[in-house]
Formats: sequence, C-alpha cells, structure tokens
Amino acid sequence: MSQNEFDEKKEVKHMEELMVLIEDAKEFIPYGKVANYIPALAKANKKDLAVAVFLPDGRHFEAGNTTTRFTLQSISKVISLALVLMDRGEDYVFERVGMEPTGDPFNSIAKLEVRSAGKPLNPMINAGALAVTSMIKGHSVKDRFNRLLDFMRVLTGNKELSYSKEVAISEFETAHLNRSLSYFMKEHGIITEDVELLLDLYTRQCAIEVNCVELARIGLIFALDGYDPVSKTQIMPEKIAKICNTFMVTCGMYNASGAFAIKVGIPAKSGVSGGVMGAVPRRFGIGVYGPSLDEIGNSIAGIKLLELLAQKYNLSIF
Ligand code: DON
Repeated sequence: MSQNEFDEKKEVKHMEELMVLIEDAKEFIPYGKVANYIPALAKANKKDLAVAVFLPDGRHFEAGNTTTRFTLQSISKVISLALVLMDRGEDYVFERVGMEPTGDPFNSIAKLEVRSAGKPLNPMINAGALAVTSMIKGHSVKDRFNRLLDFMRVLTGNKELSYSKEVAISEFETAHLNRSLSYFMKEHGIITEDVELLLDLYTRQCAIEVNCVELARIGLIFALDGYDPVSKTQIMPEKIAKICNTFMVTCGMYNASGAFAIKVGIPAKSGVSGGVMGAVPRRFGIGVYGPSLDEIGNSIAGIKLLELLAQKYNLSIF
C-alpha cells in the first residue's frame, strides 16, 4: 500500500469517526432552544449540527452541515481582543478591562457596579467585549469595522468574508441591555465614544459570518500560538495568542467555563448563534456549529460533541 493510499484511508476513518460523534451528540438537540433575543437568530435550523477539525499540515476533516454559514456572535470577542492587544498593547487594554471570570451570565450588569467601578471584569462578557471593541482604531465605524474584517480575512484565508446585515440590524435594534452596559461604562470613563456608534460597530462585529471549517482554521492559529501553517506566517505575537487562549479557558464558555474545563479541557469560545471555536494546543483547531442552545447560551449538542471528541482523542490540556 502506498503512503497516499494509507493517508486516504486514514482520512475516511477520521470522517467516519466525526460522523458517529455527530449522530451521538444530535440526541441532545431537542433539550435546547435557538436564541431569539436577537430576532434574526431565531431563523436558524435547530436541527443543524456540524464539526470541522483543522490540522497543522493543512488538511481538515468535517462532518454534518458544514457549509452552513453562521454569525460569530461572542466568538468575535477573542478576535477583537487579539486586534486591540496588537494595536494598543497590554497596559492600555488591561487598564480598561480586567482578567477575572465573573461566574455571571454573559450579559450581566451586576458586577460592573459592585466589584469594579465600571471596569468590566474580563473581555469575554458583553461589557468587556464592548470596551474592547471601543478600542479598535480607525476614523469611522466603517473604517474600524473594515480593519477587523481584514484581520478576520487573514485568519480564515477567505478574502470574501463578510457579515450579515440582517443579523447586525436585528441586534442593533434590540440591544437595550448592551446599550445600558455601555452607558454605565461611559459614566465611569471606560468608554468615551458615542454609544450608538459603538453599538453599530459591535453588532456588525458579532454578525461576521463564517462556516465551521473557517472557524476551525482560526482555532488552529490560536492552537499554534498565533502561527498560520497554511500561509506560513505568524499572524499575531505568541504572547497575545497565549493571552487569548487563557481567557478562553477561564471565561470562554461564560458561567459554564469551569464545567467545560473539567469535561473538555481545551481553550474554547462559544457564541449565541451556536458556534464554538476550539484550540487544542499544538494539535488542531475545531469549529462546531449547533444553534440549539442550553440555558447558559452555549450550543447544547456542540458541547456534547466536544466532550465526546475530548474523550475519544484525549484532548484535555490538564
Ligand atoms: O452581545 C450579544 O448579546 C451578542 N451579540 C453576543 C452574545 C453571545 O454570543 C453570548 N454567547 N453565548
């Protein structure tokens, strides 16, 4: 048997294994709900479940509805954090946003008042992400958004990458809680810009669309500490990738980050669209999509799939 034949057989085996995991995890879909607090997200197909794994040698394996495009939502918080850390440096960023998990829901306002005089506890909760987005450099919302989009295009290798205007507008029109968080932070000097402009930029950021394979490729770059093996370039400094990976471990799954660390044990970030990006240090990137969410706002079957994957391939970093 030639080496190529062997590799092809192995690829088929990986695909088959992923398909089996999808079928097992799918059983959990009925126990969740599609997000509807952003009205446009309610149109997602609850039954969708997909996974892609991207390897350092450039190959990827996928199973399920992997061509479906979905919005990044909170997964974008990791990318905007990496961008502002590169632009502004650690001191500037961490004067305005903290490094500690909250144990609260992602959109909670509670600790902003009682713990930290308007300074959000970490960049993965909405308050922290809004503060981070306000640090994206540029002369206008369009300019700043294009910088973020260009960075996303480099990370995914997709020059056509764009966003869903429908989802962005739908969130902009209903983002009363995010407006409240922003005004509270403006009162305390964490944010200085016009809140409506910030919400415009943030809702576009959250509405950037990817598929599972693109998400897995971004996960791989974080898994390799900022190095993209496809373009053979260091996309961000190693230190910044490590900061992002650490936030993913401590806060990436919101107030389920502790349980996720025990059951799966890899840096990962979820979004209310049902996407989850995983980074298995030095091994591979993972992209998952399953819009049926648990009560915390994480993909219910997606998390199960990651648990099964972690058990099967011994993924935990701990
Ligand atoms: O700000 C929001 O509420 C959404 N654009 C993103 C929230 C989110 O994805 C939380 N994830 N589980």
